[in-house]
Amino acid sequence: MSRLQLGVATLAILPALLCTLAVQSKDAPSGAHGKAVFEQWCAPCHAPGPYHPGTQALEAKYQGSLPAALQERRDLKASYVRQMVRSGVSVMPFFRKTEISDAALDDLGAYLSQSR
Ligand code: HEC
Repeated sequence: MSRLQLGVATLAILPALLCTLAVQSKDAPSGAHGKAVFEQWCAPCHAPGPYHPGTQALEAKYQGSLPAALQERRDLKASYVRQMVRSGVSVMPFFRKTEISDAALDDLGAYLSQSR
C-alpha cells in the first residue's frame, strides 16, 4: 500500500472510529436535557392548555381518562415515545435524526417516562 492509499484508508475509517468513541462516551439519558428537547420540539403542540393541537387531540382521544398534556402522563414508556417521534402519527410529523438525534431522543424518552 502506498502512503497515499494508506492516508485515504485512514481517512475513510476515521468517521467510524469517531462514532465508536462518541457512543462509548455517551452519558446515561438525562431528563433535564430531555425537558429542553421537549420544550423545543414538542411543547408547541403538546404543552398544556388550548391552542396546542397535540394536547387537544389527546384530550379528545382519552376523554379525561388520561391527562391530555404529555408531561402530566404517568403511563408513557420511553420506547413508545421513541416510536411516535420517529414515525409520527396523524398530523404529528416524524422527526429526523438530524433534528432529534438518537441521544437526544433517549433523553426525551427518559424525561417523559420519568419515575414511572
Ligand atoms: C404538529 C404538532 C405536533 C408536534 C410538533 C408533536 N406532536 Fe406528538 N402528537 C400530535 C398529535 C395531534 C397527536 C395525537 C395523534 C392522534 O390523533 O392519535 C400526537 C400524539 C403523540 C403521542 C401519542 C400519545 C398517545 O397517548 O397515543 C406521543 C407519545 C407524542 N405525540 C409525542 C410527541 C413528542 C415527544 C414530540 C416532540 C418530539 C411531539 N409529539 C411533537 C401533534 C404533535
